[in-house]
Parts: sequence; C-alpha cells; structure tokens
Amino acid sequence: MEPSYDPQSFQILYDRQTVARRVSELGAAISADVAPLLAPREMLLVVGILNGAFVFMADLIRTITVPLEIDFIRLSSYHDNQTSSTEVVQLKGLEQEIKNRHVLVVEDIADCGLTLAWLLDHLQQRQPASIRLAVAVDKKARREVSLNLDYVGFKVEDGFLVGFGLDFGRRYREKSDICVLKNT
Ligand code: IMP
Ligand code: MG
Repeated sequence: MEPSYDPQSFQILYDRQTVARRVSELGAAISADVAPLLAPREMLLVVGILNGAFVFMADLIRTITVPLEIDFIRLSSYHDNQTSSTEVVQLKGLEQEIKNRHVLVVEDIADCGLTLAWLLDHLQQRQPASIRLAVAVDKKARREVSLNLDYVGFKVEDGFLVGFGLDFGRRYREKSDICVLKNT
C-alpha cells in the first residue's frame, strides 16, 4: 500500500486513473501515427530522458502497439538566469545509433524548454528518419523557446509538480498521482 500524501504539502492534480487513461490515449495516438512509417521488422526507438521520464515511459510503452526498443539518455542542465543561457551536459549517452531511425523522445515535463530544445538539436544532427516528442506535462508559464510537442499528457499553466516520475529534491518520484506542491 502506498503511503498517504501529506495534505499540508500536496494536492492531487491528476489522480492515477486519470493519468492511466491519458497515457493510453497517447499510446494509441503514437501507435496510429508511427505504424505506417515502419518498414517490416523495423522498430520505433523510444528514448527516455533520465531520471524523470522513466515512470511515464514504462507506462507509455505498454500502451504502444508497434514494435519498439528503448534507450536512455541522461542530461544535466544548468540555467544561468543572469545571462539566460543554458549549459547542458550529457551524463549518459544513447547506446543505439539513431541515424535513419524513427525516434520518440519521452520526457516528464517541459518547463523552460531549453533542455528539450538542446536535445532535439543534438539528435537532429545524427539524422534520424523522424523525431517525435512526448511529455507527460506541458508547463507553459516559463517557456523560453518554442517547442513542438507532439504528444502532451496534461497542460498546466504553472506550479511545481511531483509524482509520476517528477521529483522535488530527488523525492516523490514514486507517487502514482501527479500532484502539485503547496507553498512553492
Ligand atoms: P527545462 O524545460 O529545460 O526547464 O527543464 C525541464 C526539467 O526541469 C524537467 O526535466 C524536470 O527535471 C525539471 N522540472 C521542471 N518543472 C518541474 C516540476 O514542476 N516538477 C519537477 N521537475 C520539474
Ligand atoms: Mg528531468
């Protein structure tokens, strides 16, 4: 049994049933879009961004009906507010070659968007056949670059979210509901 949330700190924004339903819808849309692109015996390459994406990705891939394989990348990004520049360091690279592959990038949340923008540019340079982007949450208030998000679970304006892979100080990733932290 899961421990209960502290009502002083959390508010459930999307409960686990709502999240599961939405993930299934995304999986169905992805399957319908990608199926016509894949040659016989070709697999979709699903790339998860560690650490946050792993919960969403685990659920999402089980609702996708085309053949697929997975890979992970780990990035660390540092936003310098003074120069409004971002430095992204790759802590773990992909193990698969992506040239000529159909790629689905999976991320927990798009916030400023700088991490995803950097990653898309980095992947495009390796000439994949296509890149699609799936995020569990699209958080708009602080977006700094325009991003083409192909599959969005939930759109929120602002707030700090935890659960379903999202952390606050490395905690709460294991919560099944998407919650908003109070007092932030
Ligand atoms: P950005 O889009 O470059 O700002 O980076 C997005 C990253 O910031 C995500 O991958 C998360 O790790 C983190 N992040 C942004 N907003 C939240 C949130 O509300 N909860 C948890 N992590 C967040
Ligand atoms: Mg992250």
